[in-house]
Amino acid sequence: MRRPLRKFGSAFALVGAAAAGGLAISCGSGVPTQPKPEQLDPALVSAGKDIFRFDTFGDEKYWTDTLRMHEVIQSAVSPAAALSVGFKVDVDSVPRAVRDAIAAGTVDLASPATTVTLLKLNAVVGLKGDVRTINGRDTLARVGITCALCHSTVDNSFAKGIGHRLDGWPNMDMNAGAIVALSPAVSPALKTILNSWGPGKYDPRINLDGLSTPLVLPPAYGLAGVDKVTYTAEGSISYWNAYVAVTQMHGQGSFSDPRIGVNVLQTPDLVTPKLTALRQYQLSLGTPKPPAGTVDDAAEARGRALFNGAANCASCHLGTTYTDVNFNRLHAPSETGMDPRYAARTADKAYRTTPLRGLLQHAPYFHDGSAATLAAVVDHYDGALSLRLSSQQKHDLVEYLKTL
Ligand code: HEC
Ligand code: HEC
Repeated sequence: MRRPLRKFGSAFALVGAAAAGGLAISCGSGVPTQPKPEQLDPALVSAGKDIFRFDTFGDEKYWTDTLRMHEVIQSAVSPAAALSVGFKVDVDSVPRAVRDAIAAGTVDLASPATTVTLLKLNAVVGLKGDVRTINGRDTLARVGITCALCHSTVDNSFAKGIGHRLDGWPNMDMNAGAIVALSPAVSPALKTILNSWGPGKYDPRINLDGLSTPLVLPPAYGLAGVDKVTYTAEGSISYWNAYVAVTQMHGQGSFSDPRIGVNVLQTPDLVTPKLTALRQYQLSLGTPKPPAGTVDDAAEARGRALFNGAANCASCHLGTTYTDVNFNRLHAPSETGMDPRYAARTADKAYRTTPLRGLLQHAPYFHDGSAATLAAVVDHYDGALSLRLSSQQKHDLVEYLKTL
C-alpha cells in the first residue's frame, strides 16, 4: 500500500484522527530498573556519522522536484544570505586556497555562485547538492537535506558560521521555516506561518494536522540511557529518526504509527536499513561540558543540594539521565505549568521530563522556548510549583543547571 503524505503547499488535511484516550501517566510504581546501555560498535558508529551528516534518504525528490530549492539557491541565495538564515559552513571541507581567499576577502560572499561552489565542495552543513558542469558553468542540479541541518552546528573557529562541525548540537540559528518559505511551491498563507517560527524552531507535525506550535530544536547528544525521545516521548531514537526522515525530510522510506494515523510505505526503503548505524552514532555523542570559568562552584554545590532536596527537581529529573521517562512517567502539561497545545497534538498528550544536558549550549528552554534563560526556567518553576525560592536560591539553582 502506498499512501504518500500531503506536501507543503497543498491543502492541509488530517491524515487520520489522533489516538483517542487521556493522559498516559503511570506513577512509576515498582522498583525502577537501570536501563541497559547499548554497546557501541565502532564500525556502525562511523557509518552512522556519514548517514547523519550526508544522507538525504532520497529527499531530493521533495526539496528539488517539489520545492524547487535548487532554483531558489542558485538564483538568490548568496553565502551571506545563507549564513543569515542559519546555514553553517564546514571549514574542513574547504580547500586551503579557498579558505585563504575567503580570509583575504577575495571570494564574493554576495554571489549565489559561491554558494554553489560551497555545495560542490560538500561544505554546507546539512545540505547536499549535486553540482554539474553545464555549458562550462557549475550548476546545482539537485539538492536535499540531512539530519545535520537541524542537529549540527560549527564552532565558528574560522568566522561566524564557519568552523569545525559539532554534531548533535542543535543549530539554534537555523531558521527552517524561513528557508522552506523561500520555495515558490509554498502558498502565501503557509509562508506567513513558516516565517513566524523564527530561528532554532521547527514544527514537525504541521503537514499532518495543519496546526503550528513550533518546537525548539533539541540536542541529539547525551541520549545514552534515555529510553524515549521527543518532548512528548513518542518513541525510541529510531522511532523519531524514521518519523522525521520519512514525514519531514520526505526521504524515501517507510514509517507507520497508528496512534497518529500515519502509514507510509515506499520501496525501496532508503531509511529503515540505516537506523541502527544512525542510532549508534547518536548514542556516541556525549554532552558538551560548560566552558571553563562560567560556573560559580560554591553556588553550584548549594544549587545541587536544592535540586535534589527542597526544590524537588530530582523527583522528575531523576538519576544520571535527569529524567523519569525510563520509569514510564509522563507529565500532564498542568503539572509543570506548560502550554498544553503541543502535547494535545501528540500520541500521549503529555510532556516527557526533558533529560537535562548541555543546557548552556541550547537556550531557549522548554518545548516551546517559553523560557529564554535558565533564570527564567527557575522563575517559571518558582511560580508553577509554588517553591518560594529566595533570589540567592534561584541564583544557586541556575549555577547548578549550567553544569548539566
Ligand atoms: C527540520 C529540522 C530537523 C531535521 C532535519 C531533523 N530533526 Fe531531529 N528533531 C527536530 C525537532 C523539532 C525535534 C523535536 C521533536 C519532538 O520533540 O517532537 C527533533 C528531535 C530529535 C531527537 C530527540 C531529542 C530528544 O531529546 O528528544 C533526536 C535524537 C533527533 N531529532 C535526531 C535526528 C536525526 C538523526 C535526524 C535525521 C534522520 C533528524 N533528527 C532530522 C528537528 C529536526
Ligand atoms: C513534575 C515533574 C517536574 C519537576 C518537579 C521539575 N521538572 Fe523540569 N521538566 C519537566 C518537564 C515535563 C519538562 C519539559 C517541559 C517542556 O518542554 O515544556 C521539564 C523541562 C525542564 C527544563 C528544560 C530543559 C530543556 O532542554 O528545554 C529545565 C532546565 C528543567 N526542567 C529544570 C527543572 C528544575 C530546575 C526543577 C526544579 C525547580 C524542575 N525542572 C522540576 C518536569 C519536571
